[in-house]
Amino acid sequence: MSNPSLLILPGDGIGPEVMAEVRRVIDWFGDKRGLKFDVSEDLVGGCAYDKHGTPLHDDTMAKALSVDAVLLGAVGGPKYDQLDFSVKPERGLLRLRKEMDLYANLRPAQCFDALADFSSLKKDVVAGLDIVIVRELTSGIYFGEPRGIIEEGNERVGINTQRYTESEIARVARSAFELARRRGNKVCSMEKANVMESGILWRDVVTEVHQAEYPDVELSHMYADAGAMQLCRWPKQFDVIVTDNLFGDLLSDAAAMLTGSLGMLPSASLGAPRENGRPMALYEPVHGSAPDIAGQGKANPIACILSFAMALRYSFDAGDEATRLEQAIEAVLADGYRTADLLGEEGVEPVSTSGMGDAILKALDASL
Ligand code: IPM
Ligand code: MG
Repeated sequence: MSNPSLLILPGDGIGPEVMAEVRRVIDWFGDKRGLKFDVSEDLVGGCAYDKHGTPLHDDTMAKALSVDAVLLGAVGGPKYDQLDFSVKPERGLLRLRKEMDLYANLRPAQCFDALADFSSLKKDVVAGLDIVIVRELTSGIYFGEPRGIIEEGNERVGINTQRYTESEIARVARSAFELARRRGNKVCSMEKANVMESGILWRDVVTEVHQAEYPDVELSHMYADAGAMQLCRWPKQFDVIVTDNLFGDLLSDAAAMLTGSLGMLPSASLGAPRENGRPMALYEPVHGSAPDIAGQGKANPIACILSFAMALRYSFDAGDEATRLEQAIEAVLADGYRTADLLGEEGVEPVSTSGMGDAILKALDASL
């Protein structure tokens, strides 16, 4: 049997330098654990635009659809701010999500013990925090029609449409319930059923799926604004949160920041299972391309490496190896290794991007 295939899309800004560390980790699992991957690499975002005049070449799209999993670094940068909307770096990422039909975006917000002091919230509010936001990723206001900027009378009108079908809501709800069963068995669904019809439907469908298929899971509902407030007040009340594309975008940034370590959070975007049982899948750090520090060896590679850990777990059925990698990262943090984004403790000298990679590889060796 051939090795599972991975397409690596480092992208822009710090993407390439954090991905270089991921590649070392991938090689480690091949050499030391016999988990070999066929790895190929391609362009996405601004760098793809520079070469091809489009943020995602059709050949790259075809490759993404054919591999077992895609690992993405980050896209975008000020150099591309003036580009037409249709070719902005972000459009490459949105096309991947849409054409791969990656409807369930898992965004864990986990507080690493060693970093609990970095949160803007009090330590006891965040210590031990471990929640996952399941964000619907291929529909809603990001993609709804009609959209555009039109002329009406003597002014312009900007239009976007929030639109959800029952089946779109049901499938992401199932992803959330399935995930909850493997964790704390609780789902909180967030919408604005008090002002939006799409929110009313969202609440109805989540409730129906729950009653019919997952009555063993504890389900609650919250308006998304109240949910944002509760996330800041006492985030540990949550286990899995399921919400739409736009609310999920906002709530996941807020949740990420609670942990004090935005630079540390991975994500998985999953679609339906294929014939071989593996879902369509794309893994990427939650952080962006950080153009201000790109190319300086300052970036924290942990979010991207943890995204590979999610790939091991969700695409390659290697949950034990994922845990090994996550524990290696925890050990490195407990030992005091910090990249520049995590400074603040007295007397701590930052390690470089590759220095962090070295430390993680050493901790992996020690796990054998
Ligand atoms: C995210 C980002 C993207 C989004 C952008 C880069 C298109 O903010 O993944 O959260 O809005 O979905
Ligand atoms: Mg976002």
